[in-house]
Amino acid sequence: RIVYVNGEYLPEEEATVSIFDRAFLMADGVYEVTSVLGGKIIDFDGHIARLERSLNELDMQKPEAFDDLLSIHRELVAKNAIDEGMIYLQVTRGSAGDRDFAFPDPEVVKPTLVLFTQSKPGLADNPAAKTGIKVISIDDIRWGRRDIKTTQLLYPSMGKMMAKRAGADDAWMVEDGKVTEGTSNNAYIVKDGKIITRELSTDILHGITRAAVLRFAKEAQMKVEERSFTIDEAKQADEAFVTSASTFVMPVVELDGAPIGSGSVGPVASRLREIYLEESR
Ligand code: PDD
Repeated sequence: RIVYVNGEYLPEEEATVSIFDRAFLMADGVYEVTSVLGGKIIDFDGHIARLERSLNELDMQKPEAFDDLLSIHRELVAKNAIDEGMIYLQVTRGSAGDRDFAFPDPEVVKPTLVLFTQSKPGLADNPAAKTGIKVISIDDIRWGRRDIKTTQLLYPSMGKMMAKRAGADDAWMVEDGKVTEGTSNNAYIVKDGKIITRELSTDILHGITRAAVLRFAKEAQMKVEERSFTIDEAKQADEAFVTSASTFVMPVVELDGAPIGSGSVGPVASRLREIYLEESR
């Protein structure tokens, strides 16, 4: 695989970052995951706009190559012959060659920029989308700025493992009785034909797929309500699903061991997945 590190395209074995890089020492980094379908990069502008916002919110410099990111994405897709898969991008505050809680002087320390691809043949035809996935609920104990896409992913990883150990696929996180989001996706329920998903705030990541799906839903005259919902409400829902760049629209058919609605993939989730894939390809 050919990866990109600070201006260079290199075989992955030759790509290196300093052990003093602040992403390694402090999780002082932000990232984006963008999907590729049929060699086409999906929602590039949305991901880059969110990246810029994450950088601003953390007072992090833009990498020098910021304006070349589209050509870097395209180059990596071509060099690695990606048909279906994703592009991972990470910007970190860089390495001051020492460990210090204070941010290094941005005049001296430049951000680190890393990109790599992951080939995922069958991403669009994912069999899980036909059966739906199972989720469990767990406490949301993450920090308070989940709208910034940082590389602090330890708790979401632990949540994923709690789900696996419980025989499920993923976890929905709950704070003050309300679902925030999935470990790496936004969460939705459907009740009486209405799509319900938590409103945007600092409590959740502002999903790029979420924005697209809600736009398509409204265009298709579906009813959308942006508000928080409880786990009990989710258990009483007709359908549930999650969205992300890596899963698109993924139906959820079980919550904490109990079926949601019929316990199989519902019409709203499958229709939205279809529309999303059609519009994106
Ligand atoms: N995760 N919420 C969280 C906590 C996420 O990590 C993600 C994305 C989303 C969905 O955002 P988007 O639609 O822009 O992908 C919501 C990516 C895919 C990841 O960490 O791999």
